[in-house]
Amino acid sequence: MTVDIYSLIFSKLSGDSDVSSFACSDSKDLEDFLRNDAKTRQLEKISTTYLVHSGTDIVGFFSLSMGCITSDSVKKMSLEIEDPPNKYPALLLARMATKDGLRGQGIGREMLKHVFAIAFRLTGQIGCRFVKVDAKRDPRAIRFYENYGGFIKITQTSETVQMVVDLNKIGDGENSIAV
Ligand SMILES: CC(C)(COP(=O)(O)OP(=O)(O)OC[C@H]1O[C@@H](n2cnc3c(N)ncnc32)[C@H](O)[C@@H]1OP(=O)(O)O)[C@@H](O)C(=O)NCCC(=O)NCCS
Repeated sequence: MTVDIYSLIFSKLSGDSDVSSFACSDSKDLEDFLRNDAKTRQLEKISTTYLVHSGTDIVGFFSLSMGCITSDSVKKMSLEIEDPPNKYPALLLARMATKDGLRGQGIGREMLKHVFAIAFRLTGQIGCRFVKVDAKRDPRAIRFYENYGGFIKITQTSETVQMVVDLNKIGDGENSIAV
């Protein structure tokens, strides 16, 4: 199936959202999260989930939470901050997936644009210097965040790679992303 990315509609998950048809066989944990946990997590104010619709189909989702990163983990980045804090505020992109059969058509890139748009709206109200993601150690997922989000790797565990993008670098030509 081909998706027209210009007609995608974004909405916040609600109690009425029917997410039962969302399939992500590459990452069953992401599928299970959306189908079984996302609504509860939202009521608990642990994460907020956004859905991407193409017509009546849910073709993608992402979940956001507050987060932070240590100053040490980004000390190699030239942040030009006098007297840096121990921790920097960061928006955590906790989960993201495109539905089976629809990957590679640009839905993920559209989701990232929305994540950055939300991050920039937040910075008008609260401090938020970075967007952070704990990416799976899957080269395709890592390449996606590097190429289409301007994220860089900062630390890694056996399962995930922590990646960040400095919101002050977006749009300066180096990590140019249209939001
Ligand atoms: C990572 C993911 C959200 C990207 O969404 P998408 O809609 O496929 O992204 P786009 O079409 O905008 O971009 C395609 C890029 O994503 C990357 N990619 C990662 N996994 C991919 C997959 N299974 N199929 C196709 N592209 C994939 C590639 O780098 C590709 O870039 P290229 O076209 O230059 O080779 C999506 O592939 C996905 O849901 N993967 C499985 C779950 C997952 O890994 N989530 C991230 C957890 S950290």
